[in-house]
Amino acid sequence: MLELQDLSVAYGHRVALQGISLTVGAGEIVTLVGGNGAGKSTTLKTISGLLRPRSGQIVFEGQRIDALAPHQILALGLAHVPEGRLLFKDMSVWEHLELGALRAPEQGAPFEQTLEWVLGLFPILKERRDQKAGTLSGGQQQMLAIARGLMSRPRLLMLDEPSLGLAPIVVDTLADIIVQLNAGGMAVLLVEQRVDLALRISQRAYVLETGRIVMQGASQEVMQDPAIKSAYLGL
Ligand SMILES: Nc1ncnc2c1ncn2[C@@H]1O[C@H](COP(=O)(O)OP(=O)(O)OP(=O)(O)O)[C@@H](O)[C@H]1O
Ligand SMILES: [Mg+2]
Repeated sequence: MLELQDLSVAYGHRVALQGISLTVGAGEIVTLVGGNGAGKSTTLKTISGLLRPRSGQIVFEGQRIDALAPHQILALGLAHVPEGRLLFKDMSVWEHLELGALRAPEQGAPFEQTLEWVLGLFPILKERRDQKAGTLSGGQQQMLAIARGLMSRPRLLMLDEPSLGLAPIVVDTLADIIVQLNAGGMAVLLVEQRVDLALRISQRAYVLETGRIVMQGASQEVMQDPAIKSAYLGL
């Protein structure tokens, strides 16, 4: 459903991705593992149209998207929940969800139905609907960032470090929700500093080092790799 072919991306003269190729199949959870500065966020930003590749192609459901604007890519069914959440602290939960729905496909489910589905996944947001995002806890903010992304009814959801800074119990809740979304048919491209968790809930993994993919395979196998164990799993 998503295919990156030999993608290179640079910030000015600084090369961040050097010819990476990866795929996400329909119904898969795929995780992108890598240390600080490896290029994980750059990959997601390039897919969602926030950065332009220097070379290579991005194909989503048979269509090239690497020259499209972010709102066009979102409207095709590919949503990005960015690192750091990027909420508007003075805007309410409700306003964020309305914003998230702006790029929902016109022929898709009605707003009310999507809202009910999203609030069913995150009941706490229903209770907090009039509260400003800046007054929510870290976990609630992450839930809102994901909920906003879901309001566009994506078929592929990209998550950048959803567990960052959150308490273990909240991390478990988010992991359950990712698995639940996937069970409902949504494909997921996950970047997650809790590599153990990411490998556990994903089917396949790619390992990125300084802008290159150095390993790929079934998550079960990647998890057993000695270099991965010592670099990312603390074993
Ligand atoms: N706006 C920018 N301008 C210049 N260089 C950047 C910019 N953003 C990222 N980089 C560089 O590009 C490389 C990849 O960064 P990226 O943010 O994609 O890494 P990451 O794998 O997401 O890391 P982290 O785990 O720290 O989030 C790094 O060398 C980083 O310093
Ligand atoms: Mg990052």
